[in-house]
Amino acid sequence: MKIIGTGSALPRKVVTNDDLSQFLDTSDEWIFPRTGIRTRHVITDEKLEDLGMAAACAAIAQSGLQVGDIDMFICSNVVNEYLTPGLSCIIAAGIGLRCPCIDINCACPGFIYAMDIADTYIAAGRARNVLVVCAEEPTRMTSWEDRSTCVLFGDGAGAAVFTAGDNVKGIKLNAEPSVDKIWQYRPLEPTPYVRKTETNVPLQMNGREVFRFAVTTSVRDINEILAKEGMTASDVDYFMIHQANMRIIEGIRGRLGVPEEKFPTNIQDHGNSSSASCPILLDECNRKGLFKKGDKIVFSAFGAGLLSAVALMEW
Ligand code: UT7
Repeated sequence: MKIIGTGSALPRKVVTNDDLSQFLDTSDEWIFPRTGIRTRHVITDEKLEDLGMAAACAAIAQSGLQVGDIDMFICSNVVNEYLTPGLSCIIAAGIGLRCPCIDINCACPGFIYAMDIADTYIAAGRARNVLVVCAEEPTRMTSWEDRSTCVLFGDGAGAAVFTAGDNVKGIKLNAEPSVDKIWQYRPLEPTPYVRKTETNVPLQMNGREVFRFAVTTSVRDINEILAKEGMTASDVDYFMIHQANMRIIEGIRGRLGVPEEKFPTNIQDHGNSSSASCPILLDECNRKGLFKKGDKIVFSAFGAGLLSAVALMEW
């Protein structure tokens, strides 16, 4: 499988750390050194599906394919306004796709989980051209009275079109399932029979445990897939790391012993946009002309589940 098109779309509203300090007990002096975030794009009047459609159309246009050439669509999303149908069907209806639509809820590593599914379908001959869209609005999951979570996130959508090729050199998916590291729940509709208490709990996170999980699994799994190819981190041209926290990204970079220029980042302007983070970064780098044919690119992402994933791809 190989990537033949990328796209992304962001909400118009940009919220600075100083904006947050107008209504929260926080400051740029706390947020920037601990996270690397200066601003984030936040949904106001946009619909998430519209961002997803814009990212999808940009990726399809760049691929040179027509919408009708896409024969599988995978959408990665944690939350949107609809519980059903899946966001994949909503986006597909909007852009005229008529292929199988699959939704995955794999949180931050969703792009790499979707890549793995796409790679498997293409390798099995069951799909030729797969569209992946990651569309997320985590700013609608946090309490905006909770300074420990709401300052971290931003919204957006990223997309990629994959087709047959032998550019994917390795993918590793990993899980350490537990519900007490990152979680959120909300009540369902009441019925005459429900006898349990259901409450609304906005996004909760054990930041330190997630931090440790992120750095440990990312470094371990990157080294593992590189070793399988007889490579080391120094053979890689670019690392596309989930933009959750600059200290996590720097922790991974330091342990791999790789220079800064191989770790492009956009967390400064976007915050953590969950599964949309990697494909937005990929699209921004691609459209800047950063990648050249044959470049070795490693993807790594981690988050709720706890799930993590890494991939090695040749551009
Ligand atoms: O997408 C994957 C999911 N998430 C992640 O990858 C996040 C991973 N974790 C992290 O990025 C970091 O753990 C955080 C950025 C979330 C937190 O950084 P930390 O250095 O672990 O801080 P902390 O949670 O231990 O909080 C330290 C202090 C606390 O005050 P006390 O109890 O020491 O008095 C917090 O109340 O900082 C306080 N604090 C804040 N202060 C000002 C927490 N958030 C804020 C804030 N502004 N926004």
